[in-house]
Amino acid sequence: MSHAHGLAAPVTSRPGTALKGRIRVPGDKSISHRSMILGLLAIGETQVEGLLEGDDVLRTAEACRALGAGITREAPGRWRIRGVGIGGLTEPSGLLDFGNAGTGSRLMMGVAGSHPITTTFDGDASLRKRPMRRILDPLVRMGVAVVGEAEGGRVPLTLRGPRETIPITYETPAASAQIKSAILLAGLNSPGRTTVIEREATRDHTERMLRHFGASVAIEPHGPDGRAITLQGQPELRASTIVVPTDPSSAAFPLVAALITPGSDIVIEGVMMNPLRTGLITTLLEMGAAIERLNERDEGGETVADLRVSASRLNGVTVPAARAPAMIDEYPILAVAAAFAQGTTRMQGLHELRVKESDRLAAVAAGLAAAGVAHAIEGDDLIVHGAAGRVRGGGPVATHLDHRIAMAFLVMGLATQEPITVDDGAMIATSFPTFIPLMRELGATIND
Ligand code: S3P
Repeated sequence: MSHAHGLAAPVTSRPGTALKGRIRVPGDKSISHRSMILGLLAIGETQVEGLLEGDDVLRTAEACRALGAGITREAPGRWRIRGVGIGGLTEPSGLLDFGNAGTGSRLMMGVAGSHPITTTFDGDASLRKRPMRRILDPLVRMGVAVVGEAEGGRVPLTLRGPRETIPITYETPAASAQIKSAILLAGLNSPGRTTVIEREATRDHTERMLRHFGASVAIEPHGPDGRAITLQGQPELRASTIVVPTDPSSAAFPLVAALITPGSDIVIEGVMMNPLRTGLITTLLEMGAAIERLNERDEGGETVADLRVSASRLNGVTVPAARAPAMIDEYPILAVAAAFAQGTTRMQGLHELRVKESDRLAAVAAGLAAAGVAHAIEGDDLIVHGAAGRVRGGGPVATHLDHRIAMAFLVMGLATQEPITVDDGAMIATSFPTFIPLMRELGATIND
């Protein structure tokens, strides 16, 4: 892929056309990563439908292959994984290159680190900047040895698993599904019970999918917003069928595009409505967005709905910090919606945004500045002063190898006075490879 060679591919979006039509976005990234990983750890053959074939997930698939899984692609989105079972991983012959993928690398540290093998993890320039101590600290308590690491606990790093992993009880220092999941996945190969306590509930796909594969997982409330999750170690995971629901974090982009582009009226089909992922919809409804949830049904163990979205006058709101875990990936696109709203939007408690694919707080602020949007960062809060539909545009917006910064500002350019150019669209392929063609199908002018 082009970004592997360091070639930036600028992309431009232009205002003009109302968005119309029906689309379906690709499979959920979180569930797609976990499908590969649980497929690897199960005995027998797991079948996956609707897998996200983004670069991030393909890296996880490669890693699972290197650890012993047999993986075949039978048709678009349809994959088969022949697992080796918990305890059955083989030592990879080379390093595992996770590219841009924080989720893939961190979850796999729990998986490989809990086996008596030596594994080296690496990634691109963005992943090499991201903090891994949050994963290494609990893994070290479980008996894993960090035999090499880049400065500050970053990749490239090498783990050596113990003969027997120690089960622990661990309270996560940040609201992070990746930390929780890495520990639970390591707990699979530990005797006894592993408990993760989170003060604020984060996305629960690991817990749900572990149960689907036959593990025993107890979930108890912990304090007002938290949970304690306890896994019984060394279960036999049974290979299973997984139907991947569509990714609400990808649906967020056409959704906000329709809200801010005058005259738009679209339907996004089958969007996953897991309550730990729908914070953006809650916020947009508070802002006055016209979003209807139609035809709610179950797909792959999750509630999904068709979302009908039409252009709306939005009002500024305050978004409480407690909502951050349920919309952690959606702040860049919420900032775009806020720029078009009437009045001020204050997004509170965004410290975790500083450690995403880029420092997203800084990247969003710089993009808003490039597009002429009044804003401020106060501590961990982002404040956007809405221009009631009249946003200048321009750019170029620096994406810092961050797919969601690229997509958010391309959406903005569909409704600004001037076009918006982002400096690089290559990373969009990590999570939403069909973003540009799907947006064009709705009538958007991107790269024309
Ligand atoms: C993810 C968890 C979140 C999210 C990421 C996917 C996951 O990260 O930002 O895109 O699949 O577990 P954190 O756990 O760091 O909040």
